[in-house]
Amino acid sequence: EAEYYEKFGEISGILMYKDFLEYWDDVETFPARPDDLVIATYPKSGTTWVSEIVYMIYTEGDVEKCKKDAIFNRVPYLECRKDEMLNGVRQLKEMNSPRIVKTHLPPELLPVSFWEKNCKMIYLCRNAKDVAVSYYYFFLMVTAYPDPGSFTDFVEKFMEGQVPYGSWYDHVKSWWEKRKNPQLLFIFYEDMKEDIRKEVIKLINFLDRKPSEKLVDKIINHTSFQEMKNNPSTNYTLLPEEVMNHKVSPFMRKGIAGDWKNHFTVSLNERFDVHYEQQMKESTLKFRTVI
Ligand code: PPS
Repeated sequence: EAEYYEKFGEISGILMYKDFLEYWDDVETFPARPDDLVIATYPKSGTTWVSEIVYMIYTEGDVEKCKKDAIFNRVPYLECRKDEMLNGVRQLKEMNSPRIVKTHLPPELLPVSFWEKNCKMIYLCRNAKDVAVSYYYFFLMVTAYPDPGSFTDFVEKFMEGQVPYGSWYDHVKSWWEKRKNPQLLFIFYEDMKEDIRKEVIKLINFLDRKPSEKLVDKIINHTSFQEMKNNPSTNYTLLPEEVMNHKVSPFMRKGIAGDWKNHFTVSLNERFDVHYEQQMKESTLKFRTVI
């Protein structure tokens, strides 16, 4: 238990990876540019998927350009600070516009500059149970993360918000409250799984591009789970082995909706549902019954 918390600190009551907190001033004071696009998610919600789609839109479907560099360099992770290589603030400052910014921050912690500059933002969310499953495997494969214990132990931590980026419930509810801002597009992983064409067209329109059939087809092919799993520039295998151990669990693990059914016992599921109801009852954010 003590070992679990050793790796983490807190910012505004939210658990965060300790290394990131050392340079938090750089994040807080980050200067946004009006043409920045923010991709915000709670961890494990499909960030990499939507990032690759958006990058394809920005390059008008140039697969070669997409394959030239790793996703974590093309779409820097704002608050990430592990070493000089993985330093989101530095990467972004050195980047030409228009920049695509990945973040897992809740809206309250997003650098104010993004709000002041009225930047466009995409918030992608995924159902809580599949996020918990994906996060569990992520804990196992990220070398610097502590042992999550059993899946049930981990789900308890998840329900209490005792994981990096805190409570999933608070995160999705806070971002949902921002959805009236026309600069924010709020989308769901499950919708992408169900009808990717529809969601890709939505994204293209939101970014003021033309959804030609050719572009949409190219994007759908290039960003399928299998393509992204086999593509070194999207599957995170270009990160040093000390950071992620893909033999324990690949970053591109299953990419489906409903894998929680293979992990939650009946009793854990019942407890989760009761807690979920309590947490979400006051919000108008409704997930379709989890598939
Ligand atoms: S991170 O570390 O928070 O940025 O991770 P993130 O990219 O948000 O989430 C990883 C999960 O997204 C799945 N994924 C995909 N699903 C469907 N299609 C595509 N193309 C795709 N790309 C990534 C990935 O497999 C992780 O989910 P799980 O359930 O663990 O497989």
